[in-house]
Amino acid sequence: MKALILSGGRGTRLKPLTNTIAKQLLPVANKPILHYVMEQVAETGIKDIGVIISPETGDKIKEALGDGDRWNTHITFITQPQPLGLAHAVKTARDFLGDSPFLMFLGDNLIQGGIADFVAEFEKHRPSALVLLKEVPDPRLFGVAELDGSGKVVRLVEKPKEPRSNLALVGIYLFSSEIHQAIEQISPSWRGELEITDAIQRLLDDGKTIHTHILKGWWLDTGKKDDLLEANRVVLDDLLRRDIKGEVDEHSQVIGRVNVGEGTRVENSTIRGPVAIAHSCLIKDSYIGPFTSIGAGTTIENSSIEHSVILEGCSVCHIERLADSIIGRSARVLKQGRGFKAVKLFIGDDTEIVL
Ligand code: DAU
Repeated sequence: MKALILSGGRGTRLKPLTNTIAKQLLPVANKPILHYVMEQVAETGIKDIGVIISPETGDKIKEALGDGDRWNTHITFITQPQPLGLAHAVKTARDFLGDSPFLMFLGDNLIQGGIADFVAEFEKHRPSALVLLKEVPDPRLFGVAELDGSGKVVRLVEKPKEPRSNLALVGIYLFSSEIHQAIEQISPSWRGELEITDAIQRLLDDGKTIHTHILKGWWLDTGKKDDLLEANRVVLDDLLRRDIKGEVDEHSQVIGRVNVGEGTRVENSTIRGPVAIAHSCLIKDSYIGPFTSIGAGTTIENSSIEHSVILEGCSVCHIERLADSIIGRSARVLKQGRGFKAVKLFIGDDTEIVL
């Protein structure tokens, strides 16, 4: 059994953050999403992992994963020259995959509790494909599966305008080598991509067996802004343990599940978990509220923050209440003296400011 992790693509829905970072490397609770993916894949016992990368962000992905040793796995990087679809990515990885069955995992997806059980189920029954499904409020944003009364999948449609069910295809799939032949038979969709959903439909049309599993736990598709905040909230809530490595002075209070990284100083502040603060930060005269992650080397002074993700090297000073926000790397959010009414901005492309 092999694994293929898709870490190419463009990430346009997460601009401006993805102007400088691959979307799979955006942090959730201060750890790149792709590291959680690696952990979940490694947990299944699969050792041989192919990672699809794009020419634009491939080097950063390589740097973040190394050769896979850290997870006791071996990684082969495969460059997809253009993001021409998930099935195109599989086609690009054809030499690496050979005729092996494989787990395909989209590099910006995460599910609660990992995937070891699904891999075991697939290995036991060996269907042509096993797909994970999850009920969602707006299925038009996803691949959608229609099941019959007995729970058998009858139709799969990619981002339908009028969905016939609320079951979305989660970006985690198990395939036998039959998928390659199915991919050879499909054509690009209206969005110009070779869709894996169409290839699975092709297997179905050829009378092959597709197993489904409806997920009960959380599923995070971190491809959009609100999903990144939501992923941060869910992961902090579910996985964070209290661990204080930095220094907390006697005028501060650290309540509940809070991570404070090495070299971080908390002075005259209150931190109410779940909160993750990375290494080398300064938190001074501030309140950091639940569901906040703060990246390494950031300074927060005389401010109040909650339900936010702040990346590395930022400064937030004299801000009365910052909430529901995502702040990119090395950004500075400052307030000027009293009586100064104008809003003064120096911001990058594709930025959104809500005042
Ligand atoms: O997240 C689940 C959904 O993922 C499924 O419900 C859909 O059926 C499936 O098509 C896919 O839809 P998205 O539009 O969300 O896929 P996206 O373009 O965001 O790509 C998913 C991941 O795969 C992302 O990490 C980038 C990577 N990718 C994408 C393309 C199109 C590649 O590596 N190569 C590609 O050509």
